[in-house]
Amino acid sequence: MAILEGRNLTVSYYGDIDILKDVSIKASEGLITTIIGPNGAGKSTLLKALYGLLKPKNGAIFLRGEDITRLKPHQFIGIGISYVPQLRSVFPDLTVFENLELGAWIFKKDRRKVTNAIDRVFTRFPILEKKKNQKAGLMSGGQQKMLEIGRSLLTDPRICLMDEPTATLAPKIATQIYQTLMDLKNEGITIVTVDQRVKQAFEISDYLYVLELGTNKVSGTKADFEGGLREMIKGWLD
Ligand SMILES: Nc1ncnc2c1ncn2[C@@H]1O[C@H](COP(=O)(O)OP(=O)(O)OP(=O)(O)O)[C@@H](O)[C@H]1O
Ligand SMILES: [Mg+2]
Repeated sequence: MAILEGRNLTVSYYGDIDILKDVSIKASEGLITTIIGPNGAGKSTLLKALYGLLKPKNGAIFLRGEDITRLKPHQFIGIGISYVPQLRSVFPDLTVFENLELGAWIFKKDRRKVTNAIDRVFTRFPILEKKKNQKAGLMSGGQQKMLEIGRSLLTDPRICLMDEPTATLAPKIATQIYQTLMDLKNEGITIVTVDQRVKQAFEISDYLYVLELGTNKVSGTKADFEGGLREMIKGWLD
């Protein structure tokens, strides 16, 4: 059974313009599922729908088979799902530590849990500990992305949704972020990611979905793509 599933999702931002049309996606537990597709295909919209930020007109979201479509966005953290948006989301004028403290609001009544969770982020990303008193907005793009990912892990999610975690990063930094995704997978966390660096995403993914014009174009395991489906998307393989 998929741990997280979007079934036959039709989603719009307003009115009659459906951005996703009958899109389905399944994420298997402990694996990396990646959504790829050209600009404007609806990849971010799909991730927002899976996180409850956009309610589908039709279709449903399931967590371990249970319908969670009508949960409010803030309830998704409580059921073990986290989300890192495509656009930068750190508070630039707050320090790294303050950004993490804010991210730990869900345990705010338990000081020790907050401290432990922040310490785990510092172990994963030592650079954040070094810069903990620096304003987040003054760090490099890669470090800010680590802060966003670190913050999303404070609540101990079982499923992480990440929208283009390596976009705009230098190749060396992108490689570090991919390593983080693989580390998370090795810790048993399920990852659903959107990526435009198709080649690298392909390397780390177990399952891929290709969206085009708001619809499912093709999907399969990495092996399926190696066996021929790759031809179908070669136009935008970099
Ligand atoms: N807040 C919004 N209000 C209205 N339309 C939107 C909004 N956000 C996105 N759209 C439209 O929805 C469509 C899909 O956008 P989406 O951001 O999901 O694509 P994407 O595949 O993530 O693209 P990119 O690769 O550029 O990130 C686009 O036509 C876009 O203009
Ligand atoms: Mg997007």
